[in-house]
Amino acid sequence: MKTTLNSFLTLSVIGAFILTLVAFTAPTAQDAWEVPANYKKMENKYAGKDADGIGQDLFKQHCRSCHGNEGYGDGSKAKELETEMRDLSSSDVQGQTDGELYYKSIIGREEMPNFEKKIRGEEDRWMLINYMRSLAE
Ligand code: HEC
Repeated sequence: MKTTLNSFLTLSVIGAFILTLVAFTAPTAQDAWEVPANYKKMENKYAGKDADGIGQDLFKQHCRSCHGNEGYGDGSKAKELETEMRDLSSSDVQGQTDGELYYKSIIGREEMPNFEKKIRGEEDRWMLINYMRSLAE
């Protein structure tokens, strides 16, 4: 009897511990996404430019499937994701610095993919940020 009670208690403690871990590690849209200071203040040398619509092409190719055409987070793959995406046209997102958007777009985290290999050129990356600015509402 005593051993049953003891193992029950042990299991409950382990269970509670696992639940706490999951609660603290699972990302949600509310989680603060800390951007390192060196990225935050990165200068966008191409600000305001998108000569040949490169940014839009890149967005269609790599981002639209999740974020949707207008950045609302309603792309075809969005339903499969567990993490809530913030609307890219909203002031929550548009209020961030170019450097912050660069970090989140290129480095990513968890369900937001890393694009360091797929989008290599510095100019291409900034054109993408510039295109995202045009989604502001
Ligand atoms: C597989 C789906 C998917 C693709 C493809 C994708 N994203 Fe995301 N994106 C996400 C998810 C999910 C989040 C929310 C991540 C989080 O908060 O942890 C996110 C978050 C972001 C954010 C942060 C917004 C905020 O909350 O501040 C930016 C910026 C962003 N994505 C840009 C892009 C760009 C640019 C591309 C294309 C190069 C792209 N994403 C492609 C799923 C995707």
